[in-house]
Amino acid sequence: MSPAARLRVDIVTIFPDYLAPLRLSVIGRAIDAGIVALDVHDLRAYTTDRHRTVDDTPYGGGAGMLMRPEPWGAALDSLAGAGAGEGPGPRPVLVVPTPAGEPFTQRLAEQLAGEARLVIACGRYEGIDGRVLVDAAKRYRIRELSIGDYVLAGGEAAALVIVEAVARLLPGVLGNADSLAEESHGGGGLLEGPAFTKPPTWRGLAVPEVLLSGDHARIARWRRDQALRRTASRRPDLVAALDPAALDEADLEALADGGTDGATGGG
Ligand code: 6GU
Repeated sequence: MSPAARLRVDIVTIFPDYLAPLRLSVIGRAIDAGIVALDVHDLRAYTTDRHRTVDDTPYGGGAGMLMRPEPWGAALDSLAGAGAGEGPGPRPVLVVPTPAGEPFTQRLAEQLAGEARLVIACGRYEGIDGRVLVDAAKRYRIRELSIGDYVLAGGEAAALVIVEAVARLLPGVLGNADSLAEESHGGGGLLEGPAFTKPPTWRGLAVPEVLLSGDHARIARWRRDQALRRTASRRPDLVAALDPAALDEADLEALADGGTDGATGGG
């Protein structure tokens, strides 16, 4: 028997095919390698009426339809497992993608990557009957998460985003652990600057000379300047959150440049 996967993910949706891309690329390989176990469940399998109804009109009026509680209750009971929330061990995390959720960030992705199990409930229409999560809180630790300040037609696209962001952090999923340490939102609080590969000149555009110099200290300083300038230009909120004690004179100069010279961050 193969060892248990590090992370088990169950996704409940009325559009199971929407999650098929998770079997491609990096996450698909993590599934093949047994690092992630992914199961996608059709909410309609938990309906009991002839028409397999999942939605209805909201009490109190208003536009659109809501998801009825019964199929969600049955699905979430079944996935929580017998005795969950009573026996030993933590309750599983129930992720509920919603534009009304707390912001999904790299820090949250790191937390979720430390879990053994995630259940993700993808709502459609105007959302899920408000009693479902009140009830599910007896068996799950609930995280209502938003992937950004815009509105999607349902939780599925957000579930794709969340699973990819979490699964790539699991040991063995990415080849190079350094790429986790150095990336944007990776912990330094800065956006990554531009990067270049061969050829050294392309369409008249030369790779910055410093990167060809072999001078590792100069290269590190240049990269940090680029990251600081880009962050100042695009994400002043991230600059405001930096620890001033961690900034040297050169850092402050780069930040001042970035605030005024636009986003290209060239040489
Ligand atoms: Cl997580 N779900 C939906 N339906 N819309 C969103 C979202 C999530 N995040 C931003 N918009």
